[in-house]
Amino acid sequence: MQSVADEVLDAHERQLIAQTIAEHEGRPGALLGILEAVQSANAHKFLSMESLRYIAEETGWPPARVYSAATFFALFNLDPQGDNVICVCRGTACHTRGSRDLLAKLCLDLGLTGQDLSETNDADKLALTTPDRKFTIRTVACFGQCALAPVVEVNHHILSHVNERTLQREVKALKQGRK
Ligand code: FES
Repeated sequence: MQSVADEVLDAHERQLIAQTIAEHEGRPGALLGILEAVQSANAHKFLSMESLRYIAEETGWPPARVYSAATFFALFNLDPQGDNVICVCRGTACHTRGSRDLLAKLCLDLGLTGQDLSETNDADKLALTTPDRKFTIRTVACFGQCALAPVVEVNHHILSHVNERTLQREVKALKQGRK
């Protein structure tokens, strides 16, 4: 009988998940390894509900266990990510050096208006993606580089002592196609 996951995942995705499961079978931390590999192979770097269901079906693990792991770790995304990911640190050191204003300006520049950022002091949960999926803006609680505050990560590159102008320059370059 065809499962729900079979109906929405294409053959390539199912094959990739099955192969990933086979590669991780019996290894310590297999579930996290599988989730990481499946997310990394996804074009929009996220885990769909269908892929989580399929992983549960194929491994025999309870769906709740798979879902809990995917939602517990900040590493995993349950929504499609933008082509460019900008992560603003909202830890104390970065906050006192203006990261909230950086975040607000960034959201404004990218048209992500209407967001209430007042409660994001120590949040590591904010994740906003522009409708065209060019940019995802995230926050993190601390990069562990507080001496360099405020810190912003742009497509996995750490920028230190960031101000609005440097961030605007980065966004402009990304809009023009720099990776
Ligand atoms: S508070 Fe931003 S790097 Fe630590």
